[in-house]
Amino acid sequence: MKQIVIAYVQYQLYFHPLSKYPGPKLWAITKILYNWHTLRGTAAARFCELHSKYGDVVRFAPNSLSYTAPEAWGEVQGPYVEGKKHMEMDMAIFGGKFTMTGALQMQVNTTSVGEDHRRLRARLMRPLSAKAVASQERILAQYASDFITGLLKELNHEPGTADMAKWFSMATFDVTSDLTFGKPFGCLQTGEEHRWIAAVFGAFKALPILRVIREAPGVTILGHFALHMLPQSVKQKWYDHFDYAFNLVEERLKDPQKRKDFVYYLTDTTENQLSRDEIKEGAAQIVMAGSEPVAMLLTGIVFYLSRDPEMCQRLTSEIRSSFAKREDMTLARLSELLYLNAVIREGLRILPPAADIFPRIIPPDGEYIMGDFLPAGVRYEISDADMAANSFMLEQTHVGIPTLAASHSTRNFNQPGRFIPERWMDGQGWTDPGMKASQPFGQGHRSCIGKNLAYAELRLFLAYFLWEFDLMPVPRDEEWTQRCRVWVGWEKVPLPCPLSPRQAETSPS
Ligand code: HEM
Repeated sequence: MKQIVIAYVQYQLYFHPLSKYPGPKLWAITKILYNWHTLRGTAAARFCELHSKYGDVVRFAPNSLSYTAPEAWGEVQGPYVEGKKHMEMDMAIFGGKFTMTGALQMQVNTTSVGEDHRRLRARLMRPLSAKAVASQERILAQYASDFITGLLKELNHEPGTADMAKWFSMATFDVTSDLTFGKPFGCLQTGEEHRWIAAVFGAFKALPILRVIREAPGVTILGHFALHMLPQSVKQKWYDHFDYAFNLVEERLKDPQKRKDFVYYLTDTTENQLSRDEIKEGAAQIVMAGSEPVAMLLTGIVFYLSRDPEMCQRLTSEIRSSFAKREDMTLARLSELLYLNAVIREGLRILPPAADIFPRIIPPDGEYIMGDFLPAGVRYEISDADMAANSFMLEQTHVGIPTLAASHSTRNFNQPGRFIPERWMDGQGWTDPGMKASQPFGQGHRSCIGKNLAYAELRLFLAYFLWEFDLMPVPRDEEWTQRCRVWVGWEKVPLPCPLSPRQAETSPS
């Protein structure tokens, strides 16, 4: 036994096709350490440390490489080109359920992953196009207004402290549930977080835990029964999330006269009709992917604004001096505010909401990444004397870009830990060596389809917030960001912010 272990370790460290890549030796021998950090929500932070020590390429598990160079994005997450090979997402990262194809693998076994993904993606992209999002402007503005009314009510129209993590979660959740099902949840009106918000957090947490569970030998064949191995609290939230979404879809489908919400687009019968399960899965995914990332980013930006009075003042002045009244803050005009958009872009860099690594699988005949050929994987022959035959096991090669580490690398950004909106503005005398390393919405055939909606919400909620409130400076260190852990997305912790309703004398005449 001892000899087998020694031979295995020697193979991993000296003879494995990935052995020439730098990284911690223990991580190269076993996936246990990567999984340990994944389960604790500390993997994204650990990737930052690993890349800072080992460089742009790190071997983080026996068969896995992580990249942070800007050029890696196009090679690892390229577009889908008909007839050309491309790298598929490792479905295991989401425990086999969550992405559209992941969901389908459980329901429509006969259809191929790639085609199903493209079909569903095309469907979900329709309500999220720039034109479709612009057509929802009235609803978005109403929620931004409800957000202000709710906050003012909680503060009793007096200076006070509000938990902005909670208020942004309620705001983006109300928006997403209304746009998806045509049904508002009224969190902003009651000032109470709906239970579904906690369920969404739990469902996010379940994803990496499921990945680790399903990697245990033999567990894969359990399929979705692996869900029963989740810790009870997480499992309950996972089921709650899908139950809420599925029930709402059923309820919504009974009323075909509704306005053009996302379910309308999913049920549209013009072409490539979706099954009822696909519609439910699609709606559940939008609620999950659409609400928390935007809330996390808004909270993060307010965290940085509240500790930098000069930056906060500059942004507040830009917003207040650009419009005569709040109603003039349209999506089109907000998209022209240089500093607002630079602040949002810097927020996306410093706290990318999808901070994790989303590995892709090297295709069967291998692929070149950053000029180096990588094989599809390592094939282990397994002799079975009883069956008088040889079978084999393929350990596939995985490659990925840890979003947080790529945008915190000193090889890509000068002073990466500092929030500097000027990085994204022309003529400010600021240059960074690898700006394209920050790709918060991903790239290629699985990149974010909610970018237009995300930008609309980010601009509106930030602008309404700073139009109506003076954000008081608070001396803060990085402790808040360090307390937020990453399970695919961030689990944010409360952010108490001292606020004061805008004083009448500061209003433009
Ligand atoms: C600041 C906000 C957001 C960020 C940073 C973000 C980021 C991302 C990233 C990085 C991916 C790709 C993951 C991968 O490479 O596999 C993704 C996928 C996705 N996002 Fe977003 N997202 C945001 C907001 C939204 C919103 C508002 C929606 C919808 C309402 C949305 C819906 C989706 C969907 C459906 C996918 C899966 C696409 C596919 O599998 O083809 N996202 N998002």
